[in-house]
Amino acid sequence: MTRFPEGFLWGAATAAHQVEGNNTNSDLWVLEHLQPTLFAEPSLDACDHYHRFRDDIKLLAGLGLNCYRFSVEWARIEPERGHFSVAALEHYRRMLAACHECSVVPMVTLYHFSSPRWFAAMGGWEKPSATDLFVRYCDRVARHLGDLMAFATTFNEPNLPMLLRWVPPSEIPFLKVRRMVKLAARAAGSDRFGCFFLGDAKALQDRMMAAHERALQAMKSAAGNCAVGVSVALQDEQPVGPVNQRDRKCAEVYDPWLSAGGKSDFLGVQTYTRCRVGKKGDVGPEPGVELTQMGYEFWPEALEACLHYAAARVRVPLYVTENGVSTEDDAQRVEYIQRALAGVVNCLTDGIDVRGYIHWSLLDNFEWIMGYRPKFGLIAVDHQTQQRTIKPSARYLGGIARQNQILDPAAIL
Ligand code: BGC
Repeated sequence: MTRFPEGFLWGAATAAHQVEGNNTNSDLWVLEHLQPTLFAEPSLDACDHYHRFRDDIKLLAGLGLNCYRFSVEWARIEPERGHFSVAALEHYRRMLAACHECSVVPMVTLYHFSSPRWFAAMGGWEKPSATDLFVRYCDRVARHLGDLMAFATTFNEPNLPMLLRWVPPSEIPFLKVRRMVKLAARAAGSDRFGCFFLGDAKALQDRMMAAHERALQAMKSAAGNCAVGVSVALQDEQPVGPVNQRDRKCAEVYDPWLSAGGKSDFLGVQTYTRCRVGKKGDVGPEPGVELTQMGYEFWPEALEACLHYAAARVRVPLYVTENGVSTEDDAQRVEYIQRALAGVVNCLTDGIDVRGYIHWSLLDNFEWIMGYRPKFGLIAVDHQTQQRTIKPSARYLGGIARQNQILDPAAIL
């Protein structure tokens, strides 16, 4: 059985808004509480990770994992424009210290979809000043936390808005979205509301790429030895028919951010499924295939394909910063992990420099617009009692991490 390289990182990931709870100063909190809203339910207490992070990090370490990827929340750190909360920064210092106490390598995301309410109210990423504001925030975080951060990423999936442009228009409720933005602007006391998920994807991309480049420089000079990268959303894009838009889609959605990642210290690869692209764009999964709770095709082999795609375009080390499946059936998650990791082994055999596998997610959490229904966690969370229950998939991934090689699930479970 092939062993993973020495020092390989084995982890699980979360994002602040999805687990911390009561992120009341964020743009998403505004959107979740509108009447009407497209959100299935509000995030409220989430996993109360803001208070329970110590126990959660201990659980992660106890499984055998050696890396925790989490995000810090801009809305907490800079609650009003130009006013930084030392108390919030100190909270994240305690989280980082908890990782080190458990011999867990922390990987910190500076921006995972949510923004401060004031940032949305001024127009968000479409405003020219957004770049300077983000760079200032990153610089502040790096100065306060840099000595404890091993890895940092500026953005989580900054190419997601471009990817969403390929969703067939019939699946997007444009009118409701427009109405929600109007209501949100009113609720925030503004005539605009610029949110990461909504708005002009191309304008956003230009702004965020400039912000990444400058934030990277600022963080490198402020944060000492911390490796700084970016995590990109990828899908295994497969062509359907002789005339199709697959290459055009890849060039538009992935290549600009892979090129930005290639100029960073590392690239984070994130993938969940494959996608079929025909003459007019995405055509959806073949009838009858197994679907996950998100409606994605169950396709663990996407990881191998995406690592190959990225490795052909960048020369920096690759880390899988998200990969997972939403399912109530944990045996399906075990199978997903086993098959996805077989793909990583193939990539290593092919000479691709993959240095870590971070599963999404550590906890069952708030899945954005879908609310709490999709279950991505290695650990179940009862959102009333906040009780955590370790799933067999967590023990499986932890067992693999301890032995640094893929194991037969029967040997562990
Ligand atoms: C995001 C996560 C999300 C996951 C599952 C990724 O796009 O980074 O925040 O929960 O996918 O949908």
